[in-house]
Amino acid sequence: MSDTEKTFTLTNDQTGESVKLPVRDGTIGPSVIDVRALYAETGHFTFDPSFTATGSCKSRITYIDGEEGILMHRGYMIEQLVEKSNFMEVAYLLLNGNLPDQTQYEDFRHTITYHTMVHEQVHNFFRGFRRDAHPMAVMCGAVGGLSAFYHDSLDIWDERQREISAHRLIAKMGTLAAMAHKYSIGQPFVYPDNSLDYASNFLKMCFSVPAEKYEVNPILAEAMDKILILHMDHEQNASTSTVRLAGSSQANPFACIASGIACLWGPSHGGANQEVLEMLAEIGNKKRIPEFIEKAKDKNDPFRLMGFGHRVYKNFDPRANVLKKYADQVLQELGIQDEQLELAMELERIALEDPYFIERKLFPNVDFYSGIILKAMGFPTSMFTVLFALARTVGWVSQWKEMIEEPSLRIGRPRQLYVGPAKRDYIDIKKR
Ligand code: CMC
Repeated sequence: MSDTEKTFTLTNDQTGESVKLPVRDGTIGPSVIDVRALYAETGHFTFDPSFTATGSCKSRITYIDGEEGILMHRGYMIEQLVEKSNFMEVAYLLLNGNLPDQTQYEDFRHTITYHTMVHEQVHNFFRGFRRDAHPMAVMCGAVGGLSAFYHDSLDIWDERQREISAHRLIAKMGTLAAMAHKYSIGQPFVYPDNSLDYASNFLKMCFSVPAEKYEVNPILAEAMDKILILHMDHEQNASTSTVRLAGSSQANPFACIASGIACLWGPSHGGANQEVLEMLAEIGNKKRIPEFIEKAKDKNDPFRLMGFGHRVYKNFDPRANVLKKYADQVLQELGIQDEQLELAMELERIALEDPYFIERKLFPNVDFYSGIILKAMGFPTSMFTVLFALARTVGWVSQWKEMIEEPSLRIGRPRQLYVGPAKRDYIDIKKR
């Protein structure tokens, strides 16, 4: 450790022994205390269940300031990206680090577009699922199953193969998500249309039928494009950390992304958008809001206001602010007077005035509004988390690629505080 290096000294109050730990600065945001040498020097591990104070990696992709409600990808504010850019460009940015020039953009768009078809045998794979399977269950299986179809891009140490896998995952995720929807409603799969942009193609694969001509509504396509950008990446959240941990064992990228999908499914994470609408349906009408607010505040009741609160954002969720605007646009375009939206607005108003929510800094998160737009577009609630997974695949793949390209890559292996029985002798069953 050099004399000029910033350090942090940790002292054992019992023995008086102390250890100097290096402090590392990022570009912006809190610095970290590098504890990698802690066990070797003190015989102690750190203890941080749920990782509320742990930086698990270095990353150049996404920055969040939870206090200020800031989300940036590669240095660009999410509000600017949503307003000025599109899915394909932001996907390129996350994956490659910079915005593409015109040629790079066209090449990338062409590559993703021409990878959207899935191996025909994948159709048979889908048919093995029950029709009433949750589409997230289908996605966990189907995406993991891609590793059985694309053997030529599984060598994670080959840069070109990593790139091909990344392109395949981004391109095929939309097709698989649409297939999961079609399968659940008993309609034929719709093949991708390479003349369309990513969002329009996805809507067409979800909502067209071979018997009829389908025109993509440009306002809905734009809203879908924005929803995808807003969900693309979110730093080291639970599913991204899952993808990184799976990837650290050198598992193939399709298997890693399947592990991310599994994690995202949970109601505390991506599953919340489905739960928001189910909650609104359960509340039913505005008169019952106070009853549910009381339930959410009652520590003996497991009920939580779904779509409220966030581990990192403690002021507002910038994604929710942007999405609220698009929710209004979509509902206006479709001429929908949505009672659930009105209920949601009233719930938000009452919760934001309640000291319980104010003191705990609980604000509506992205999931509070996304479900309302997706419902208006015609998606069943069971598809909401699939759409989240579709967008987040870009982030997962970018984070996975960044990790594999890190020279110091080692398998992730947290330790623990063991609180089970100390050593004891085996007693024969007759004597217990
Ligand atoms: N309703 C009622 N109380 C809540 C809620 C809620 N939605 N969220 C947090 N709290 C309370 C919690 O009971 C605790 O109170 P106390 O300090 O009295 O014990 C306090 O607020 C802090 O909560 P926490 O559970 O320690 O916070 P966390 O950072 O561990 O959890 C969360 C974050 C998102 C899991 C949680 O807020 C939650 O369960 N929200 C509802 C589910 C949801 O909307 N999830 C989507 C997250 S955004 C999309 C994504 O990125 O995945």
